[in-house]
Amino acid sequence: MSSLPRSVVIKGTGSYTPDNIQTNNDLTKYVETSDEWIFTRTGIRERRIASADETASDMGAIAARRALESSGLKIEDIDLVIAATITPDMPFPSTACLIQTKLGISNAVCMDIEAACSGFLYIMEVAASMLKCGRYRHALIVGTEKLSSILDWEDRTTCVLFGDGAGAAVLAPSDTPDVGLIDFKLGADGSKGDVLYMPGGGSAIPASSQSLDDRMHFLKMRGREVFKLAVTVMEQAAKEILEQNGVNSDQLSCVIPHQANLRIIELISSRLEIPMDRFYLNLEKYGNTSAASIPIALDEAYRAGRIQSGDLTLMVAFGAGLTWGAALVRSP
Ligand code: COA
Repeated sequence: MSSLPRSVVIKGTGSYTPDNIQTNNDLTKYVETSDEWIFTRTGIRERRIASADETASDMGAIAARRALESSGLKIEDIDLVIAATITPDMPFPSTACLIQTKLGISNAVCMDIEAACSGFLYIMEVAASMLKCGRYRHALIVGTEKLSSILDWEDRTTCVLFGDGAGAAVLAPSDTPDVGLIDFKLGADGSKGDVLYMPGGGSAIPASSQSLDDRMHFLKMRGREVFKLAVTVMEQAAKEILEQNGVNSDQLSCVIPHQANLRIIELISSRLEIPMDRFYLNLEKYGNTSAASIPIALDEAYRAGRIQSGDLTLMVAFGAGLTWGAALVRSP
């Protein structure tokens, strides 16, 4: 390609979820809860839990390999790897570097970007911008999470909501205008960081016997506040991106929402006046897999034939930070 690319397209997608299924009934062994409570409040029936020796980079590498296979590209075509995760194997090196090594990618720029459940949309925009400036040829972007490693299995208000898994996409520049990643609308509000966070393990509260005793290395959440904020910011991001691009919600073939809670998605559906049957849903099987949620759903939607050539798809997410994002994609 001699001049700058006119667009960036999704060349392939892949996903991976561990085999081990944990049902709502299984959770009653750890906390006082019930399938009825969890399902009616969230829409979740079960989630996948990684084995003790399976890491975020292991899962990410499998999803990445599958995305590469579906793209038809080779390992040596990739020169940019970006991962999104809040459960990296370790603080450093980055999960992207670990995935690079597991795949045998020898010549790439690799980094992690952390935007919690909005992470995949964040890395998608960053990778797309880097490809559009013409300096990189193909990007591998991966959202991967082992949330089971930071859940407090004694806290019923959080441990029932999340699961493990990974999703990935290969992005490539294209000379065809108006296809692929049409637009993004990302946002953040750090002043609301305390509604969903993990206090320990960083420079504020490094690991110590005290921090372990105080249960600082677990995810903490004020669920009701998160619920309200999620609905507000997802609705706003979706409306803004549609308006900015002169797109009527009738023109959307598929919506891939962050899979956190069915009631949140139902509210978004009614506020955007987009029927529920256009939303791709898998949270019943996987719960909330944070940065992996959108790419797993995207991969499943492609493989199920829910997204066809020429279709316009909206992706919309929110997460800790607070962060949020929407992306509009037209399949080539
Ligand atoms: N099983 C049974 N009871 C539970 C429970 C569980 N797993 N978790 C909480 N409860 C209880 C509470 O202790 C409370 O009891 P009380 O009235 O005796 O105090 C009652 O259920 C209601 O709790 P509340 O927190 O008000 O419930 P809710 O209807 O708001 O639902 C969430 C809780 C977490 C499901 C909901 O707020 C939510 O989904 N929020 C968004 C979370 C999210 O998506 N986070 C990820 C963001 S990326």
